[in-house]
Amino acid sequence: MNKPIPQPAARRDAAERLNELAELRAKARLGGGEKRIARQHEKGCMTARERIDHLLDADSFEEFDMFKTHRCTDFGMQEHVIPGDGVVTGYGTIGGRLVYVFSQDFTVLGGSLSETVAEKICKIMDMAMKNGAPVIGLNDSGGARIQEGIESLAGYTGIFQRNVDASGVIPQISCIMGPCAGGAVYSPALTDFVIMVESTSYMFLTGPKVVKAVTHEDVDTETLGGAAVHTTRSGVAHLAYASEEAAMDAVRDLLTYLPQNNLQSPEPLPSDDPPDRMSEFLDQIIPADPNHAYNIKDVIHETVDDGVFFEIHPSFAPNLVVGFARYGGRSVGIVANNPAHLAGTLDNDSSIKGARFVRFCDAFNIPLVVFEDVPGFLPGTVQEYGGIIRNGAKLLYAFAEATVPKITIITRKAYGGAYCVMNSKHLGGDINYAWPTAEIAVMGSRGAAEILYASELRDPADPDSATEQLAAREREYADNFTNPYVAARRGYVDDIIRPCNTRFRITKALSMLENKQANRPAKKHGNLPL
Ligand code: HXC
Repeated sequence: MNKPIPQPAARRDAAERLNELAELRAKARLGGGEKRIARQHEKGCMTARERIDHLLDADSFEEFDMFKTHRCTDFGMQEHVIPGDGVVTGYGTIGGRLVYVFSQDFTVLGGSLSETVAEKICKIMDMAMKNGAPVIGLNDSGGARIQEGIESLAGYTGIFQRNVDASGVIPQISCIMGPCAGGAVYSPALTDFVIMVESTSYMFLTGPKVVKAVTHEDVDTETLGGAAVHTTRSGVAHLAYASEEAAMDAVRDLLTYLPQNNLQSPEPLPSDDPPDRMSEFLDQIIPADPNHAYNIKDVIHETVDDGVFFEIHPSFAPNLVVGFARYGGRSVGIVANNPAHLAGTLDNDSSIKGARFVRFCDAFNIPLVVFEDVPGFLPGTVQEYGGIIRNGAKLLYAFAEATVPKITIITRKAYGGAYCVMNSKHLGGDINYAWPTAEIAVMGSRGAAEILYASELRDPADPDSATEQLAAREREYADNFTNPYVAARRGYVDDIIRPCNTRFRITKALSMLENKQANRPAKKHGNLPL
């Protein structure tokens, strides 16, 4: 008689396996547990998963490595094994376009970065590079996982290397949702845009306690590295918003101006705003007195599609305005001197701000539109000691190396070295227009008259009329030089245009330059004056 074949005791049916999967998934979704999730909500913060849900198109998220766990056995860490560890990673869509995302989970050991957390982040960064799509990092972490030591540092460094490799290849955006301290700050700092949340996020290399021990300074977290500090003083962060939702909505908006990678151009977004819309307001905007200010943002809003301007770094170095907009649906990067701040001069911060923005646009095939009203570089010891020579050179370098379509509109002052720097014809400006109010010269007429006629003014023929003599010399210089026609006669500006027609002329120029080809000499890389 045949013996019955023995059945494996532990064999489970398919339904049981599905139940097990559902349980494991539910456990992973809870991260560090309900109590810690509640604590996160009490702080006014979302969880890592809630953030992803808000950021991405509904139901588009596909998660990786949900069951990945850390391998640390020191410090009783076997007791703290949570599926997925301290980060949620995967891909999804924003406005229907592919993006990769990682979201640090503060409920799991404070979102600290373990070896496995780093591996998960590196995996999606590698995928983003292979598939040519942006990476968005939602940061909320106590930094290196203390229990893991060197493994954690190695993990960070692997991320830094990928940030650098991806730079200029795919857009990288960092949102700072909570703590971001220690060397951890360098990954966001290597990305293209850093967006913070007011009151709940902070970034610093060394926290208040270490600062106190080393420098005896008393400083709190917000004053040391809050959103206000980094968007106004350090320039580390580009934007800050009052809520996490607003910060992530800004990411969605920002992406609409960018291509997926450096081999593509931004998708045009058709608008009903007629390209030939005139603006009589612009014919009146330049004040009669050259020393009076106006706001260049009014010019930007008046000329771009639907008046929509996505400003970057609005609170840092406001004497130079940068940001994205569209003309005839085409995405452009705008760089504009603002006479409403520091008379529109270029200083250290604005030079650095502008250079970084120009280089981003150039890397990602976004044409540049420059509005120029600049009386020169800001003089003084603060600027010179701060390296205005080195920093001004950054902006010069950035415009000179940029090969995207480059258009400049000189609205008023274009003086001296700042004229050369601000995307002049001589730096490869493709289309350079001037308004009739443009003053293109080595310097303003008062300064020029004082230098050219110094001896005459020191020793006037008639001391009673010295002031009138200076005024007459000033007028003479202004009549001869501070107008756009001298430059136009030499072809340094292509045309002198009516201000009301600026939108139309820019839109036409962008269309004409659509297939521009320009190459720079082959080299490993240049040596930007850092
Ligand atoms: C392991 C950590 C951790 C870390 C926090 N936790 N940071 N676990 N490694 N780095 C854990 C806590 O033990 C706690 O666990 C939980 O996360 C929440 O932390 P709390 O302190 O309760 O939260 P909170 O009061 O909000 O304070 C947040 C914090 C603080 C300010 C971030 O946790 C903190 O100071 N952490 C240490 C920060 C730090 O020094 N990191 C190293 C930086 S150096 P339980 O179980 O209680 O919930 C660095 C080098 C990187 O990062 C170099 C790269 C090159």
